[in-house]
Amino acid sequence: MLLDTFGRQAVDLRVSLTDRCNLRCTYCMPEQGLQWLAKPELLTDEEIVRLVTVAVRDLGVREVRFTGGEPLLRPGLVSIVAACAGLDPRPELSLTTNGVGLARTAGALREAGLDRVNVSLDTLDPETFHTMTRRHRHEDVLAGLAAAEAAGLVPVKLNAVLMRGVNDHEAPELLAWCLERGYQLRFIEQMPLDAQHGWTRTDMVTAEEILDRLATRFTLTPEPSAARGAAPAERWLVDGGPGTVGVIASVTRPFCRACDRTRLTADGQVRSCLFATGETDLRTALRSGAADAELAALWRAAMWGKKAGAGIDDPEFHQPERPMSAIGG
Ligand SMILES: C[S@@+](CC[C@H](N)C(=O)[O-])C[C@H]1O[C@@H](n2cnc3c(N)ncnc32)[C@H](O)[C@@H]1O
Ligand code: SF4
Repeated sequence: MLLDTFGRQAVDLRVSLTDRCNLRCTYCMPEQGLQWLAKPELLTDEEIVRLVTVAVRDLGVREVRFTGGEPLLRPGLVSIVAACAGLDPRPELSLTTNGVGLARTAGALREAGLDRVNVSLDTLDPETFHTMTRRHRHEDVLAGLAAAEAAGLVPVKLNAVLMRGVNDHEAPELLAWCLERGYQLRFIEQMPLDAQHGWTRTDMVTAEEILDRLATRFTLTPEPSAARGAAPAERWLVDGGPGTVGVIASVTRPFCRACDRTRLTADGQVRSCLFATGETDLRTALRSGAADAELAALWRAAMWGKKAGAGIDDPEFHQPERPMSAIGG
């Protein structure tokens, strides 16, 4: 098992399949100038499947989420999903995507064994979408959402980041739109993980502000806290339910004590936390012929050293070297 010294067990693996992306969300990447990982540094499809196999078969991982960068840009995605769906025990398989290429791929992903998708959509307005992502792809994301639903990748979940003065006024409208369609919406507080290191606490729209904006239109009642478990989102019933909304308050109400995550970057490094400053290199071991048991031992040691918390509130907090797009969000 992947245990740490605080008694937590990691059962949820986030695998980054690429650091590249076809959008340039302002809270994530600069317009240009970001250095991509070179091809030889990236794990091959076979290497990814081998490491996921070790995690699921030998280390107690039960859920695998593919992310990036934009995971739909990975040519081998469908076959990676199919191989992971064939593992015993079979893990839950999900994907976090910007949705741009989903209309084309949702059916094949479902057939390969993908269970669910989280699509990131911050706005219902195509112009605001362009302001936030620097690309005109709003329509493609809407088509991707519809395709995910049609393919049975349900419940479709949406992630939204609010930026002050850009899309924060849209919170109630986004929620109404999701409720109408049966999509589960979660707002994520903006985190200091952008490649350009431009995050400031005062610009961040806090969970409290998000809830205040939603309360102008909806009555929110907290779901019993037991239901949250290790899930980072605190959830509220909207107007008595059954619709819900989640808020991931990673900065103002971190959930580190219940964290059950471990992460693998596209270049084969294990990270015990999004905000970790250290990594454990599995790729070198893998390529030097390490046996599965040795890879498992390295992974266990990496997680044993996991810190109690991300420490964003600590005055000593240092943003990790790698941005979110390279860690895998
Ligand atoms: C890094 S992206 C990777 C997957 C895919 N490209 C996408 O956008 O869904 C994963 C999630 O992280 C979120 N994200 C990116 N940068 C963030 C930041 N600085 N703070 C909070 N969330 C962020 C995105 O909105 C997205 O929901
Ligand atoms: S948040 Fe996702 S879609 Fe936006 S730039 Fe980052 S990796 Fe790309």
